Amino acid sequence: MFAIAIDGPAGAGKSSVAKAAAKALGFIYVDTGALYRTVALYMLRQNIEPSDAQAVEHALPAISVDLRHEADGQHVWLCGEDVTDAIRTPQVSMAASAVSAIPAVRKFLFSLQTGMAERYNVLMDGRDIGTVVLPNAQVKIFLTASAEERARRRCLELEQKGEPVDYDQTLREIRQRDEQDMNRETAPLKPAPDSILLDTSDLDFDGAVQRLLEIVRERS
Ligand code: DC
Repeated sequence: MFAIAIDGPAGAGKSSVAKAAAKALGFIYVDTGALYRTVALYMLRQNIEPSDAQAVEHALPAISVDLRHEADGQHVWLCGEDVTDAIRTPQVSMAASAVSAIPAVRKFLFSLQTGMAERYNVLMDGRDIGTVVLPNAQVKIFLTASAEERARRRCLELEQKGEPVDYDQTLREIRQRDEQDMNRETAPLKPAPDSILLDTSDLDFDGAVQRLLEIVRERS
């Protein structure tokens, strides 16, 4: 099996760029952030504080999370319900960042991720894929962009969905999530030593996809 690990901060365009690159390569695209979001959604629905490690850990055995790949891409299921759309809210983003700092949550989701890479050629995106989940991935990319550019893109995305947009608030949330994701004790967001940096601040979508595919070609 061939694995491509893509890590990087929130809003760097990872998911859209990775999705397009996976399609071009004929690989299965695995968005691991969706798994943390699903756990977070469960906690919010149960009125469990996402940063309360003990309460979250206690609730984990009741959850089943499943990934399915359909014609339109990855779907994530929570206890038999397709929650692919429900996990895409700013509230779930913040809660996902909180639950992802809890070691028991990371352990809970680990084998689901490695299992995908055992069965398929994958392009997997997340925060710790090259460092923890798939340390033997053939290609590792750290995909990033400046916080301002990421906030601008996130606002554009929300605007297109017809949702209310506040640039300053979005930028604050992005910085807060970076801070949380980079400074947590377990599996913090950081480039794997053997990863290639891909900064998309000055690249448009097609440029970023092309550059990613070039890196994969150079490495395979
Ligand atoms: O990529 P995303 O925004 O959907 O991720 C949501 C949160 O999940 C993010 O704040 C960090 C966390 N996450 C993680 O810790 N490890 C991963 N492999 C993927 C996401």
